[in-house]
Amino acid sequence: MPLTQGSNMPQIAETSSNAAQIEYWNTTAGETWAQFQEALDRQVEPLGLAAMDVLCPGEGEHIIDIGCGCGQTSLALAARVRPTGSVVGVDISEPMLDVALRRPRSADLQVAFRKLDAQTGDIGHGLFDAAFSRFGVMFFSDPVAAFANIRASLKPDGRLAFVCWRPLNENPWMQAPLQAALPLLPPVAPPDPTAPGPFAFADPSRVRSILADSGYGSMTINPFDADIGGGDLEQTLKLALAVGPLGRALREHPELADNVVDAVSLEMCCQTISLRTACECLALSGLFWPVLAECDLKTTLTVEQVAQKLTRRGADHYGAWSRSRL
Ligand SMILES: C[S@@+](CC[C@H](N)C(=O)[O-])C[C@H]1O[C@@H](n2cnc3c(N)ncnc32)[C@H](O)[C@@H]1O
Repeated sequence: MPLTQGSNMPQIAETSSNAAQIEYWNTTAGETWAQFQEALDRQVEPLGLAAMDVLCPGEGEHIIDIGCGCGQTSLALAARVRPTGSVVGVDISEPMLDVALRRPRSADLQVAFRKLDAQTGDIGHGLFDAAFSRFGVMFFSDPVAAFANIRASLKPDGRLAFVCWRPLNENPWMQAPLQAALPLLPPVAPPDPTAPGPFAFADPSRVRSILADSGYGSMTINPFDADIGGGDLEQTLKLALAVGPLGRALREHPELADNVVDAVSLEMCCQTISLRTACECLALSGLFWPVLAECDLKTTLTVEQVAQKLTRRGADHYGAWSRSRL
């Protein structure tokens, strides 16, 4: 994969099995993340650093950043592997990649951004020492196919580290505003916990099974807690109303916004009183899994073996994907 700025972004087929996510991250979600980039980076930076510590990138390594979004982690990884190492950030969201490309960066960082679907796109074969992601891997329509594609882009002894959320009801930073709003919103059916979305990897046994099926060997998944916030009440409220399940509900029911804003605002005020930190910033706890998976040479499956396994399970589209790569 050439290490270029990638400003000439290719279009991703709208017929892709990730079409709904591609639409979502190129419209409402991508625009919101681009707009709130600074605040969101501040909120999740410590969580990404926890995954980087688990990955332990070394000078000279070549790393792929999956679902790199607005690029904060790609630049941080590039700083850890410089001067000879490099980072390629891939993402499906043009608005977020635009922010990534515009970010100031030091001249000695080797970093490139590519618009690419990590599940179906050609991310190369045996190129990278490691793959990394901060909350960018829970949105695949076929996670096994996606992680096998990422696995194929790694060197035989490569490794993968990412962070994903633990369940929504264990994440007060998102649950508290949502709970305050729920009585005012139309009832919704409980979401499928395995459907693509921020909490799709909340169950670590599912993560283990997906990674094992896509050719990874030893895995480490340990719980980790962090304070998420860093903004004042107004900033925190704005963000809570814009992103995640609550942001989505308000975009679908803008007519309910006024009442919801009042209720969420009241809840955040209460949280502020009980949780105000020394720096006058609001922080609520966030619970997540940093995951490390290694391409264990003894147990690693070839791309062909993974395809056979999946074809046997009836995943025809994955067989087609794999044949096109062999
Ligand atoms: C929650 S955001 C996280 C962004 C960034 N990693 C961060 O921490 O700021 C999820 C990201 O995953 C990207 N994404 C979702 N599905 C993807 C796919 N199939 N291939 C590549 N990126 C994807 C989205 O466009 C979005 O940028």
